[in-house]
Amino acid sequence: MGIQFDAAARTFTLSTRSTTYQMGLDHLDRLLHLYYGPAIGQGDLAAMYPPADRGFSPNHNADRERRGISPDVLPQEYTGCNTGDFRLSCLVVREENGAAGAEWRYASHSIQKGKYALTGLPAAHDEENEAESLCIRMEDSVTDLALELWYGVFERQDIITRAARLVNGGSQTLRLEKAASMCLDLPFGRWDIIHFHGRHAMERRMERTPLMNAIQTVSSTRGASSHHHNPFVILCDRKATEEHGLCYGVMPVYSGSHRTDVEVDQNGLTRIVSGIHDERFSWQLAPGEAFTAPEVILACTENGLTALSQQYHRFIRHNVCRGEFRFARRPVLINNWEATYFDFDSDAIVRIAEKAAALGVEMLVLDDGWFGKRNDDNSGLGDWFVNEKKLPGGLSPLIDRVNALGMKFGIWVEPEMVSEDSDLYRAHPDWALTLPGRAPVMSRNQLVLDMGRDDVVDYLTERLTDLLANNNIAYVKWDMNRNMTDVYSRVLPADRQGEAAHRYMLGVYKLLETLTTRFPHVLFEGCAGGGGRFDAGMLAYFTQIWCSDDTDAIERLVIQHGTSFGYPVSSMGAHVSACPNHQTGRTTPLWTRAVAAMAGTFGYELDLNKLSDEEAAQVKEQIAFFDKHYQLIQNGLYYRLTDPTEEERYAAWQFVDEEQGETLVNLVLTHPEANARPLHLWLRGLAPDALYRVESLDIHGCHAAPQAGLDLAMEGVGKVYSGSTLMRAGYTLPQLAGDYPSVQMYVKRV
Ligand code: GLA
Repeated sequence: MGIQFDAAARTFTLSTRSTTYQMGLDHLDRLLHLYYGPAIGQGDLAAMYPPADRGFSPNHNADRERRGISPDVLPQEYTGCNTGDFRLSCLVVREENGAAGAEWRYASHSIQKGKYALTGLPAAHDEENEAESLCIRMEDSVTDLALELWYGVFERQDIITRAARLVNGGSQTLRLEKAASMCLDLPFGRWDIIHFHGRHAMERRMERTPLMNAIQTVSSTRGASSHHHNPFVILCDRKATEEHGLCYGVMPVYSGSHRTDVEVDQNGLTRIVSGIHDERFSWQLAPGEAFTAPEVILACTENGLTALSQQYHRFIRHNVCRGEFRFARRPVLINNWEATYFDFDSDAIVRIAEKAAALGVEMLVLDDGWFGKRNDDNSGLGDWFVNEKKLPGGLSPLIDRVNALGMKFGIWVEPEMVSEDSDLYRAHPDWALTLPGRAPVMSRNQLVLDMGRDDVVDYLTERLTDLLANNNIAYVKWDMNRNMTDVYSRVLPADRQGEAAHRYMLGVYKLLETLTTRFPHVLFEGCAGGGGRFDAGMLAYFTQIWCSDDTDAIERLVIQHGTSFGYPVSSMGAHVSACPNHQTGRTTPLWTRAVAAMAGTFGYELDLNKLSDEEAAQVKEQIAFFDKHYQLIQNGLYYRLTDPTEEERYAAWQFVDEEQGETLVNLVLTHPEANARPLHLWLRGLAPDALYRVESLDIHGCHAAPQAGLDLAMEGVGKVYSGSTLMRAGYTLPQLAGDYPSVQMYVKRV
């Protein structure tokens, strides 16, 4: 049983396979957070927080004679407002008289089988029937505001989800000025914070630092989860490594402006508050109305960062992603963007498709530029009608020609945007987010549509339904190429403008829900100038997301390493592109580019006609190799073998199948050395007592003369070692030299 209420102790205990989460009601019916961590069973933990009279930490009026009990000291499950807890708060609620206050008291609870759903918001699902849900209802007696705290307990997956719903049960209109999704108090312990920062074309770089005795914030005010601060935070024990140590993950299921704050308080308690960013946010709650704060996915393990990542990988694949593509074999694709940019016509696309089909590529994706007046990025967005100058006769003749090659056809769209120079903007200038009296701030010469408007969502539903219903389209790349400014909606009254940014996200989710339901056989890939909206909210609709506009294989090693902390390989869009690379000017061997792209969904983004015969043959081999190891790569467990912040010479990672029957080890040399030190790897994830044979060891792109030791290292091929030998003693790979060679070693249980 995942959820238990002990009526005598008045505790709620949530149990997953290896974690326990406990809350308790105190003498004033307040809900205190008692524990989240490795499994401990049922015991009542309230005694862990003995009264302590801290100066300047106030007491509830009823506790004035028991000064040791302060809301400012006790671990809270979801804070009130302005009533004695000075630490990070979850909520600011204002009454009609201007007063801001709330204090929660337990009212009731219910436990149900299955997973709760959230109206209008993406949330984890329970298609595999393992979850239980708990709802604890708290009430504030002055405002009559009710707080529903929702918990989804996924026993096997070792995951707990949380969400909060605020319901106005009173007779006055309330105004929420902050409404976080959750608060998690860790009363004891000293933690490092790990987060994933970046910029366009360099997303999700991992950074780890000890928490200060202060507030640290990971957030975005861009109206998108952003390239800059991914909505995912890990707290781990200061000594935690990939293989050991207590780690917690907090992952909001939200794609708009978000905020996760972490505070260390006067007692050393660490509080995490996560949810929608409250800057410029407000939400009006008329009597009877409810506001739902997005879901957050919590994970905990005492087995280090790899185990935490694998928990998220499994959960996202099984319980966040939906539909037939969760586990289905996805096509190896070729995208024409870096091959042609805007300069193409049907014949040019078919030429790319022909060569790709001959080499084994399974789908052609037509990127930006096929619609409206779109010959560069200054015009045309919003006019989702085929540009017949480029594609005479429309899409169908082109799709027929691509299909005739045995390939599927996919297409790019950027529905949430509008160019000033477009028929849509000329007809509906009020559909864009713009501030009254101000010339709008421009970005890529485009404006953001007000997705909070029903007419905008209806228009896009109609246009995209027309596109997908009347053409044999197997895949959609859904882009979003600027962040939100001038946030002002022409359809909201003055006192509701604080709702515009979140209403935008609700509109996007509604549109995606309609389209993915209507077209279940279309594979949707998300994109926002690469990974500008790479989050669990989007993964509920997009089984894969274009990881970054940086296609340089060596830069990708860092981006994909950071991304791998929260997100599975099967979600990371990754392509082999041309060299010199268009973003960095770097030249890497074609095979090494493939090794990097194979740590993602794998595809190509260049004109294969421009390759030499030898290179074209390599492409064929790469696809065959990927095909052979598809299950292992996409469905296997992912192990990081190096940390780019520590190991500068090479990057290495490993795929191991769940049954520990086979593994693919990958290494890319990023900095060749003179008089080089050995390339020695300790494998991970194997069964210690099982025997494994090194089946193959492929060296790619080692153009310079390999250094001494190559022959010797190759002697390991065909030999049998125990799992513990490969993990404890390790394996020394051949010495590599030159610019960015790589190695793939395949090892199988005998
Ligand atoms: C974004 C995407 C690219 C490409 C262009 C097209 O930058 O990330 O992959 O689709 O838009 O304009």
